[in-house]
Amino acid sequence: MNYKIFGKKSGLRVSELVLGTGNFGTRWGHGATPEESKKVFDAYVAAGGNFIDTADGYQVGESEELLAGFIADKRDDLVLASKFSMGGSTLLTTGNSRKTMIRAVEASLKRLKTDRLDLYWAHLDDQHTPLEELVRGFDDLVRDGKILYAGLSNYPAWKIANASLLADLRGWSPIVGIQIEYNLIERTPDRELLPMAQSLGLGVAFWSPLAGGTLTGKYRTPSADKDNRQVAWGGLLVKGESSNRETLILDTLADIASTHQAKMLHVALAWLRQRHQPKELSTVTILGPRNVAQLQDNLDSLQVTLSDEEISRLNEVSAISLGSPHEIIKESQKLIYGDGFGRVLS
Ligand SMILES: NC(=O)c1ccc[n+]([C@@H]2O[C@H](COP(=O)([O-])OP(=O)(O)OC[C@H]3O[C@@H](n4cnc5c(N)ncnc54)[C@H](OP(=O)(O)O)[C@@H]3O)[C@@H](O)[C@H]2O)c1
Repeated sequence: MNYKIFGKKSGLRVSELVLGTGNFGTRWGHGATPEESKKVFDAYVAAGGNFIDTADGYQVGESEELLAGFIADKRDDLVLASKFSMGGSTLLTTGNSRKTMIRAVEASLKRLKTDRLDLYWAHLDDQHTPLEELVRGFDDLVRDGKILYAGLSNYPAWKIANASLLADLRGWSPIVGIQIEYNLIERTPDRELLPMAQSLGLGVAFWSPLAGGTLTGKYRTPSADKDNRQVAWGGLLVKGESSNRETLILDTLADIASTHQAKMLHVALAWLRQRHQPKELSTVTILGPRNVAQLQDNLDSLQVTLSDEEISRLNEVSAISLGSPHEIIKESQKLIYGDGFGRVLS
């Protein structure tokens, strides 16, 4: 396991693989029992992992409740992150208002039986709360000692850039990172979110690195085992193989995996790890295992190193159109400057 500083706005030392705990508990009708969750947690820590991702809403609070028991004797050696926005079920217990934020952080601390969260994410843009209220709210929580760092999950790039600038100019605690859906199938963050994070020095945490299981290849062959997310959640949080592009991605993964005598998921996770080198952007991958065998399989991806040619192949088959204005900028640069443009600027 390697360690990184999470972006340029924090000194947080985090492992490159994060333990996602959306599967800790069974209140959503699909997940891991307390006993299995404990095995997953212990195996992750034994492998050198130190970054735990939960949320107030995961398995209706069960994820945080289970973690309370697991983290108690190693609290100082873990980076504990939780989220708010979707933990409640009523008008005033959801969203990102200051009222929801304060209630939610106090409830998370109680469930987790700890005094502070190391990193607190707004889970999702509620599209109403003014950014000033949110960022100043985070700053108050930092000053109160209830959280140490703040970040934004599932926010559009222009709002993150505004929030980050607001925090910097007003001397409030910075927005240190973003949490986004990113994997070989979902590459739209290449348009705005990733260049923004690089430019602003934000740490990046990728969620759904296996597209909810699709990149393991397990949905390509019919199986009698119906205990999977696709069936249990009716396709929620699973990006299926529904186009030629996705079929090509999965075929390429299978081909590269066979040359490494590895599994498709190892190659999918190795691509995420190698694609954004630390010098360019500080990225970590949030794993989502449902049992200890899946965790071990995910961790084994660290043994696979892809060649530059393999990374280029995967980049190409999964590439998306960057759209406007990126395409017209690229075309115009070629037209005006030819190949000399890169040389002039580098
Ligand atoms: N910020 C957000 O909005 C957000 C959203 C989603 C997730 N997250 C975070 O990111 C974490 C990871 O996301 P994710 O759970 O979607 O990740 P993922 O790795 O894309 O999907 C996890 C699922 O993949 C399947 N899987 C994993 N390893 C496998 C293996 N070795 N063999 C077969 N199947 C395997 C399992 O499916 P089955 O259950 O079918 O076995 C597992 O539940 C979450 O736990 C959470 O902490 C954040």
